[in-house]
Amino acid sequence: MNAVTPDWMRKGYSVGAMRKLALASLPRPVFDFADGGAEDERTLRRNECAFDDVDLLPQPLRGAATRDLSVTLFGKRLSLPVIIGPTGLAGLFWPDGECCGARAAQAAGTAYCLSHGSVCTLETLAGTGVTPRWMQVFIYRDRAFTRELVERAATANYDALVLTIDNQVLGSRERNIRNGFTIPPRLDFMSLAAMATKGHWLWRMRNELRHITFGNYVRPGETAEIGKLAGRMSSLLDPSMSWDDVDMVRKLWSGPFILKGVLSPAEADMARRRGVDGIIVSNHGGRQLDGAAASFDVLPHIVDAVASEMPILLDGGVRRGGDVVKALALGATACLIGRPQLWGLAVAGEAGVAHVLDIYRSEIDRVMTLCGLTSIADINRDLLFRRNLPD
Ligand SMILES: Cc1cc2nc3c(=O)[nH]c(=O)nc-3n(C[C@H](O)[C@H](O)[C@H](O)COP(=O)(O)O)c2cc1C
Repeated sequence: MNAVTPDWMRKGYSVGAMRKLALASLPRPVFDFADGGAEDERTLRRNECAFDDVDLLPQPLRGAATRDLSVTLFGKRLSLPVIIGPTGLAGLFWPDGECCGARAAQAAGTAYCLSHGSVCTLETLAGTGVTPRWMQVFIYRDRAFTRELVERAATANYDALVLTIDNQVLGSRERNIRNGFTIPPRLDFMSLAAMATKGHWLWRMRNELRHITFGNYVRPGETAEIGKLAGRMSSLLDPSMSWDDVDMVRKLWSGPFILKGVLSPAEADMARRRGVDGIIVSNHGGRQLDGAAASFDVLPHIVDAVASEMPILLDGGVRRGGDVVKALALGATACLIGRPQLWGLAVAGEAGVAHVLDIYRSEIDRVMTLCGLTSIADINRDLLFRRNLPD
């Protein structure tokens, strides 16, 4: 680090440190929107703690001068096993937040997954040419809208489709309730005082705030009137979605098709039988069902059920390169990050996300070095000291 190193980069030496910088730079309701989980946030906490229950067993004398962190996923090579997961309203953290995150991902040689609830439209993101780009959708009450989004993603040449299945109703995120934060955000309800104390954010967002909305939900010819969208959003989610809907999306999408929000090995096995190409073991970052099992805790069970036939990805609580290595040791192909990329965005936009990805890269590399690992293919369960794992 030299004299021109930005202050935030010096202070944001870890993902946890980036979170603290994001806390300092965002209005509290915006920070809490990203940071919070459902109800008592037990699942949110467990996601992070679960990694502590497993330790690494290094074999230093196998080492090599350089390490290869790359993985191949759905026929594409990623330069590190960390992907940016879908997070709605990334454009609330930095102007053009989704495109910033996607550009940082591409520069780092990894994939970016756009949320259904992005501020920019899926076509705008595709217009940047950033790749690999994935698109995430829900099963909406209005199945025609699901079809419409999937078809738009196909027309815009997205590389993979992610169907999130753990959003049948919105989880009760009590920090948002306390802060008066709604989805979509009705900024008049967000404490003006809270916003005013964060002058940098307010200045940066001065031209954006009036346009913060779910870009993909505004149909051609419609206005982005927030009340109308809020009504549509709450009527969109469908508690009665089923495997028939998964079949419907599978038929519509010819490329890699990934199910996100799987925790049960039985459901993973059913996904395999229904022609799904990959699974994201996830509990939505503890934002939906509080008390749901932590992703890392269930990972080995899902791997044992289906990993020989499809890639298994994991998200939830991945805050260190060592967490990624542990997930890979249990059989995951890669991890996704949600909040950490938003913290990077909040601190420095595209450069902040690039920095977050760089932190993961250097930590993974260091852990691999210390463990005596040369390539990702060397990572397996022998690396783990099994305190709470099945035989
Ligand atoms: C602010 C925010 C918005 C999110 N929006 C979506 C979304 O639109 N679709 C989705 O499938 N998951 C969404 N998620 C969940 C993430 O994709 C991911 O599962 C979760 O954040 C991973 O946990 P982590 O934040 O601990 O990395 C969101 C998460 C956050 C923090």
